Amino acid sequence: MSYILPIHNILRWAVLLFGVWTLLNALTGVFSKRNYTGTDNKANLFFMISCDIQLLIGLILYFNGVWFESLKANAKAVMDNAGPRFFAMEHVLMMIIAWLLVHVGRSMVKRTDIDAQKHKRSLIYFGIAIVIILAMIPWPFRHADIARPLLRQF
Ligand code: HEM
Repeated sequence: MSYILPIHNILRWAVLLFGVWTLLNALTGVFSKRNYTGTDNKANLFFMISCDIQLLIGLILYFNGVWFESLKANAKAVMDNAGPRFFAMEHVLMMIIAWLLVHVGRSMVKRTDIDAQKHKRSLIYFGIAIVIILAMIPWPFRHADIARPLLRQF
């Protein structure tokens, strides 16, 4: 199990890389009114796949680690403390919402044949997902109980 946390840590960079690529494509698509290309599709496909893998690894971490156990054992104590509340509730719930937005976003983009609509939908769905992901990563500058390293060694 010890390698699962470093994988979850490092995979965050893939999620962010593909997420930012997707967002830049959506922005240039909306503002320069260009066609929706195979590259746009590839960027958000990779973004979705990286989110899928991150969700899977996150679920393994969550149900095999201390957070779910402590929530079951003493939910009030978890909710009263920033660190446990973040990992037992906030991180998981908000990241699942972001993951859902990426999936709904991809199907909404596929549902229209108008390129301008595709870019606009990409910007809305993927943009909100990326904001949530950025806000819910336990960056080193967060509260000491939440802060986690930018990279972790195996
Ligand atoms: C795009 C989605 C996600 C990103 C970018 C992300 C990112 C991260 C990062 C950077 C950490 C810190 C890792 C470390 O301590 O080195 C972390 C911790 C954690 N994540 Fe996620 N995460 C995501 C989704 C999820 C999901 C969906 C779950 C659960 C279903 C989850 C469960 C956890 C847990 C339990 C920890 C704490 C591990 C521990 O310190 O015991 N994550 N996440």
